[in-house]
Amino acid sequence: MTEKKIFIRSTGSYLPEKVLTNKMLKEMVDTTDEWIVSRTGIKERRIALENECTSDLGVKAALKALAGAKILIEEIDLIIVATLSPDYIFPSTACMIQKKLGATCPAFDVGAACSGMLFALSSAKSFIASGQYKNVLVVAAEKVSSFIDYTDRSTCVLFGDGAAAMIVSDKAGFKESLQVGEIVLGSDGQMHKSLEIPAGGSVLSARNSSTTTKDHFLKMDGKVVFKHAIQRMASSIKECLDQSDVSEQQIDYFIPHQANDRIIDALLKRFSIKIDRVHKTLESTGNTCAASIGICLDHYLDQKVKMDQNILLTTFGAGFTWGSMLLKRERQ
Ligand code: UT7
Repeated sequence: MTEKKIFIRSTGSYLPEKVLTNKMLKEMVDTTDEWIVSRTGIKERRIALENECTSDLGVKAALKALAGAKILIEEIDLIIVATLSPDYIFPSTACMIQKKLGATCPAFDVGAACSGMLFALSSAKSFIASGQYKNVLVVAAEKVSSFIDYTDRSTCVLFGDGAAAMIVSDKAGFKESLQVGEIVLGSDGQMHKSLEIPAGGSVLSARNSSTTTKDHFLKMDGKVVFKHAIQRMASSIKECLDQSDVSEQQIDYFIPHQANDRIIDALLKRFSIKIDRVHKTLESTGNTCAASIGICLDHYLDQKVKMDQNILLTTFGAGFTWGSMLLKRERQ
């Protein structure tokens, strides 16, 4: 029996209008544009408004993806949302997005931090392959600024808000789509302390923590995360390519997690992927966590990707979690 083909019919993304530049951050913490650019490659990032929440960003990206696929919200069978900055601990951000889109289908969140988009896409792929659903809306949305301590220079310069969405379907749609290929996922809970928001859950609940301890904000051991990000993304890329018929040289578009230029450079040194095949948005978005690879894919997709070209996406995040995925521009 031939394997069922699964497609990404369309993509969409949304970035809030408010820009936070390195120069503005210099007024807030002891940092410089030179330090931030040389250590990360980031020049500015977008920040959502006070009254704009994660689901609002997700809805804006979802509406673009729905319009791109030319399908109605009534045709969506399932909504999966990836986020590390949810509207609430519960209900899920997926339920908030479902309500705002006027959908009635099942909806749930996946918790895989910055790797969430790939975990959500892998879930969508399985639901469609099993025949349970035909059209799945996958959204990755982050108002991570709500969880950033803007007096902590080691983290506040890195992150930005944004959202991405994709319509995953058993049909290619009216024009050529992206066929979903191999997806490799990984997790290592031993490393959870290196990147976390310590308070707000059942370990350190509202009863036993106070907002003055700043434990409700994102904490990161940057050096540990840096080292593991390179190792884990590199091994998942290798595994993903080994499991497919695609070689490093056949990668036409490489979209790595948009966290740090130096991590991307280190990855490139390990593979024969040409530098002009790497696509980045981090200079103007910062690290948008789960939304990062989706925003980047949406940004470059319609402009350039030609028939039969291969796209490789890879990501890494808290947990630790990581993964890689291959896409190919194809007709059904
Ligand atoms: O989505 C996945 C999550 N995150 C990542 O992938 C991030 C992974 N980590 C990184 O990208 C890097 O570790 C950072 C960019 C966060 C930090 O770069 P680094 O080269 O590892 O710097 P460092 O933490 O070793 O800090 C070097 C120095 C320190 O000063 P001393 O101790 O040498 O005097 C820091 O206090 O730089 C200082 N520093 C800063 N200086 C100016 C830290 N943050 C800043 C800052 N501006 N914003």
